[in-house]
Amino acid sequence: MSDIITIENLSKSYASGVHSLHDVSLSIRKGELFALLGPNGAGKTTLISIICGLTKITHGHIQVGGYDIIHQYREARSKIGLVPQEITIDIFDSPWKTVRFSRSLFGLPNNDDYIEELLKSLSLWDKRNQKMITLSGGMKRRVMIAKALAHEPQVLFLDEPTAGVDVELRQSMWEQIRTLKSNGVTIILTTHYIEEAEEMADRIGILNNGQLVLVEDKQTLMQRMSTKQVSIELKDPLATLPNTLTPFHVSLHEHKFIKMRYDFEQETHTIADVLDTLKQNNLTYVDIQTEQDSLEDIFVRLTKS
Ligand SMILES: Nc1ncnc2c1ncn2[C@@H]1O[C@H](COP(=O)(O)OP(=O)(O)OP(=O)(O)O)[C@@H](O)[C@H]1O
Ligand SMILES: [Mg+2]
Repeated sequence: MSDIITIENLSKSYASGVHSLHDVSLSIRKGELFALLGPNGAGKTTLISIICGLTKITHGHIQVGGYDIIHQYREARSKIGLVPQEITIDIFDSPWKTVRFSRSLFGLPNNDDYIEELLKSLSLWDKRNQKMITLSGGMKRRVMIAKALAHEPQVLFLDEPTAGVDVELRQSMWEQIRTLKSNGVTIILTTHYIEEAEEMADRIGILNNGQLVLVEDKQTLMQRMSTKQVSIELKDPLATLPNTLTPFHVSLHEHKFIKMRYDFEQETHTIADVLDTLKQNNLTYVDIQTEQDSLEDIFVRLTKS
């Protein structure tokens, strides 16, 4: 897969002296859905604003679709659609006018069929001539998406698209985002809903204190970092563990629970080995529970200060 965005050694310091990004290097692949996670103030919006040309780079280089975002600003910007974190629309305008106008800003000829299709796909067609002030928050957010897509960009940035959106609408937005992706649009979204990243992303990046602390394929991430905890409940209390269990690195809790924690990949013993050994020692168990790390556990581990 070729890269549509390349970011090299990006750093950002604001005039206030705040260092928001430190030496960030990242490539976004064409057609992927990349989820950028990080606590409040991690630098997610700063990163997006820089790529979109809204905030100045302090140090580093960025290309979008092969165009340098500083020296070939117009070309680079035409490839990008941005749905910012804050809703910015003229509340007295209608969705139809707003989206149509946004397309013209990029110097493109009118294409009312495209705008109609866009508004329909975002369930905004019925509302197309209403003043924005009469729309709900979730609807306004969808107008922001339509506006960002007005010039048919190849890359769409969604800065917390589902913040404050109810569960049902969130599901339908996920569906819309998936459709965009299947139409070939590269999507970069930031979110505080870990399950959103878990559900939607091809790759996940975690920013913490302006540093990219992790970029990983979601599947690999789940496998590489996940550890399982197994708890075996014994029928009868036990004073100490039999020596034959020593190689399995298990521990005894409350004289009743045998616990085992292991990495997926480095695992040499299986739960079955432990159960066999229990049987050989005439130890009966009544319950087995397993727990697996979630992406949230991984996130918390990487971002706790
Ligand atoms: N215009 C600005 N001037 C000075 N500092 C700023 C400015 N914009 C952002 N910052 C600072 O840069 C850091 C990163 O902010 P940013 O908005 O990028 O974080 P974020 O990851 O998007 O957070 P959130 O999850 O809250 O949206 C913060 O310390 C913030 O205070
Ligand atoms: Mg932000």
